[in-house]
Order: sequence, then C-alpha cells, then structure tokens
Amino acid sequence: FIPVSASGAGGGTIGKDELGNNVSVAKFLESHNVGDRTLVQGLKGDPTYIVVESKEAIADYGINAICTHLGCVVPWNVAENKFKCPCHGSQYDPTGKVVRGPAPKSLPLAHTKVDNDTIVLTPWTETDFRTGEEAWWA
Ligand code: FES
Repeated sequence: FIPVSASGAGGGTIGKDELGNNVSVAKFLESHNVGDRTLVQGLKGDPTYIVVESKEAIADYGINAICTHLGCVVPWNVAENKFKCPCHGSQYDPTGKVVRGPAPKSLPLAHTKVDNDTIVLTPWTETDFRTGEEAWWA
C-alpha cells in the first residue's frame, strides 16, 4: 500500500488537479493571473484554494473551500473579490475570513510550500492570522 499523498522530506500532501495529477507550480503560475484563487485537492482530498501571490509565487497558505455552514464548496467570485457560498449566501473575504453568515467560522487554512515544482500542503495548527485566534479546525 502506497499512500497517494506520500511526499518527500518533511511529509505533507501534494496538491493534485482534478484528474489526480500533481500540480506543477511552474505551469500553475504561467496559466493563472496574480490574485487568482484556484482549487486543488489538498489535505484529506479537500478542495483547497491556492492563491497566486505574484508572477513568481503562490501564497504560503491555502484556503479550504468547504463552507463552515453546511459544507458546500464555496466558489471564488473574482468580480466581487470574495468567496460566496451558493447554498445559503455566506461570504468570506479573499483570505477566507467569514464576513457574512450563516457560516459561523472562517474557512480553514493549510500551509503551502513549493517543493520540486509541486505544492506541498501541511496542516495549519497555529494561530489563525486572520482573526488572531486559535485555529478552530486544528
Ligand atoms: Fe454555505 Fe450554507 S453551506 S452558506
């Protein structure tokens, strides 16, 4: 048995595309604009947004896309610069911080780093930088 999420040094989960292939960071940066938020399969296979921070870099955090209300996948709305849940209207700012209910909490974070052109995600257990509070999901 070989875990699909196995990776190199340091462990973590490699971000996959919808076909289950490793996401190439070089191609990802080429094909997305700065500010884009794009889904990959992240920790435990959860849909997770990767943020294009600049032409050269992704942000060092990913945003879990599962609404904290009842679990719909929350789309990124470019025009309004926020995440808007289609199910009951919850809204989250560009970092995934909840700005409108009924969602009770912000979207969970994951650490992201680039390793050998792949995106490696690891659990975020530290303080939530958006709220200054403990990571409620950890
Ligand atoms: Fe997102 Fe209800 S599941 S607002």
